[in-house]
Amino acid sequence: MIYSRIVGTGSFLPPKIVTNDEFAERLDTSDAWIRERTGIVQRHIADESQSSSDLALEASRRALEAAGVGAGEIDLIVLATSTPDYVFPSAACLLQAKLGIKGCPAFDVQAVCSGFVYALASADSFIRGGMYKRALVVGAEVFSRILDWNDRGTCVLFGDGAGAVVLEAAQHPGVHATVLHADGSQAGMLSVPGNVCGGRILGSPFLQMNGQGVFKYAVKVLDEVARETMAAAEMDLSQIDWLIPHQANVRILEATARKLGLPQERLVVTVDHHGNTSAASIPLALDEWVRADRIRAGHRVLMQGVGGGFTWGAALVTM
Ligand code: UT7
Repeated sequence: MIYSRIVGTGSFLPPKIVTNDEFAERLDTSDAWIRERTGIVQRHIADESQSSSDLALEASRRALEAAGVGAGEIDLIVLATSTPDYVFPSAACLLQAKLGIKGCPAFDVQAVCSGFVYALASADSFIRGGMYKRALVVGAEVFSRILDWNDRGTCVLFGDGAGAVVLEAAQHPGVHATVLHADGSQAGMLSVPGNVCGGRILGSPFLQMNGQGVFKYAVKVLDEVARETMAAAEMDLSQIDWLIPHQANVRILEATARKLGLPQERLVVTVDHHGNTSAASIPLALDEWVRADRIRAGHRVLMQGVGGGFTWGAALVTM
């Protein structure tokens, strides 16, 4: 039996930090409101010259170094993003070129904030099926590009960044189970409803969200998908060392842990200093906890994505 296993993690945050007070200087908001309603204190924002594939490159280099693997040994690249550099080519192909390699397949996965879990599940399937041996799985976003910076209801929530893992064929899991879901009938709840047409933008280039709708949906499906994934792995929730839900709002994270009966000490929280980095949030949180020596070899980690589409999913992994 072939399984896949995470053998290295890496992440990158653009250096520029934007605090809540900076929003309060020009919008009808406050540090207190943002902290109380979201848990967010600050976020990193890319400058105009930094694209998703640039952030992905730095995160990937760090993951490769942690894995002790050369870029030339990667035989699959799967990159989750909703903010690719271009309409095409994919950010994954641009990342491949920046890594100085060619030949291996490279493609983007677009599942918004569930993107990393979708990408991990895809790479895991390729490896378990025997098609590839070593995959680079990345989540990279510059959500700052699709925010209306005058809309206090959305612009304070998001940040930019990238996280990556090297996933390798192994005799033991590794990835125990992955579960993915989508419900396109909920597309309008969270969207950037615009497209490029004849040199113009039709619709809106800005993120729009029914915040309360997303909140309720997220808490419900994060609970369901955690239980479904544990059942698929034939394990119990008590066997989880760490829960890494998509980092959107600390109230969603805490409600999810509470519903699952998991102590808050097992909940990984980075939304306070990253904001919501969409597809990058899970690998960013994973790498931060690994480098802080909190998530260690042998620990069991349940990662959960939820976001636009609507999409959601989870992956249970032994590190
Ligand atoms: O990646 C997945 C995507 N996103 C999410 O998971 C987000 C899910 N939703 C949420 O996190 C929360 O719903 C929000 C943080 C977006 C909003 O929190 P809320 O507690 O649901 O607030 P609300 O939307 O009910 O708004 C309460 C009030 C409103 O004013 P009124 O109508 O009561 O006068 C808003 O206009 O807060 C107002 N408000 C703000 N006030 C100060 C909204 N944004 C702000 C703001 N500063 N930044």
